[in-house]
Amino acid sequence: AAAEKGPYRHYMLKEIHEQPAVIAETLEGRVHRGRLLEEAFGHEARALLDRTRGVHIVACGTSYHAGLVARYWLEELGVPAQVEVASEYRYRAVVVPEGTLFVTISQSGETADTLAALRRARGLGYVGSLTVCNVPESSLVRESDVAVMTRAGPEIGVASTKAFTTQLVALRLLAIALGRRRGLDAARERALCDELEALPRQVEAALRLDEAIRGLAEAFADKSHALFLGRGVFYPVAMEGALKLKEISYIHAEAYPAGELKHGPLALVDAEMPVVCTLPRDPLLEKVLSNLQEVRARGGELFLFSDGEVEIPLDRYRSLPLTDTCPSTAPIVYTVPLQLLAYHAAVLKGTDVDQPRNLAKSVTVE
Ligand code: G6P
Repeated sequence: AAAEKGPYRHYMLKEIHEQPAVIAETLEGRVHRGRLLEEAFGHEARALLDRTRGVHIVACGTSYHAGLVARYWLEELGVPAQVEVASEYRYRAVVVPEGTLFVTISQSGETADTLAALRRARGLGYVGSLTVCNVPESSLVRESDVAVMTRAGPEIGVASTKAFTTQLVALRLLAIALGRRRGLDAARERALCDELEALPRQVEAALRLDEAIRGLAEAFADKSHALFLGRGVFYPVAMEGALKLKEISYIHAEAYPAGELKHGPLALVDAEMPVVCTLPRDPLLEKVLSNLQEVRARGGELFLFSDGEVEIPLDRYRSLPLTDTCPSTAPIVYTVPLQLLAYHAAVLKGTDVDQPRNLAKSVTVE
């Protein structure tokens, strides 16, 4: 099995580096000349999407974070979206508005809670079910009306990486498909598809930060806590960054929407709790910067992944630039350095990166 890792020390690192190739695979035959090829979702899909007015997304773990990112994308295109973890969804009363599509997201397609949620959803009046999944012969694929495969290939590392970014790509395709039915015009669709096609190159560029991120990770290896901040669609990206760090390095990491800092977590900020934040060039940039000012004022050490053109008016920070991103896909690119940060922190701590204690790749029992 060691041979399958090629030049990489761990499956996780190999899978992180596979992302440009597998993202291209996810797009293959689905986007062409600035258009989404909806037929690629299968012949059942069109009728189902035509009947869809909104979506309920249910998933667990990293796949849940993909759903949270998708909510921002869908609502921006006028599609009402709710997202919930499967273990909660399956046991509560749910009101299903007319025209709601039930969407599951799963790497394995076998997660017990997600599968139980799908089975329960059947009696609740949804227009149908769609799964975004990585394993073709899995239970979720067999039991859903439509399956959009992520095509990431086998993922061995327990901490999900390439499955997550390909889920996000698949969810962008879904957002465009539903957006079309909400007035997304051809010119805008072309722009969004072009942004998708630029992703393999952009993720490749983000991977070149690997060495520099290893340097940053040294500041984390002896810490017990870390805080990840983001706003808007980058809040769930921060959640995923925090999850990666805690899963494999056992450092307690928490994600917060930066605007919520003053309602609690600021009390914890000191030099012993590194604060990680993404700083894309987006409409919330000024807001995030002022939140980071509050962190600095309490002596918090900042580790930033920022757009190369952003000016950072802070007295002290360490930052690495992402120079090639597009608005609609930046969350995918910004995820990559967070994966690498967790990876290097774990390697420095000497934990079992591919097989973290107490965790399983696929949780097939409740
Ligand atoms: C486990 C894995 C996670 C994964 C989650 C959901 O907790 O360790 O990496 O995100 O299950 O799995 P799924 O296969 O449904 O995406």
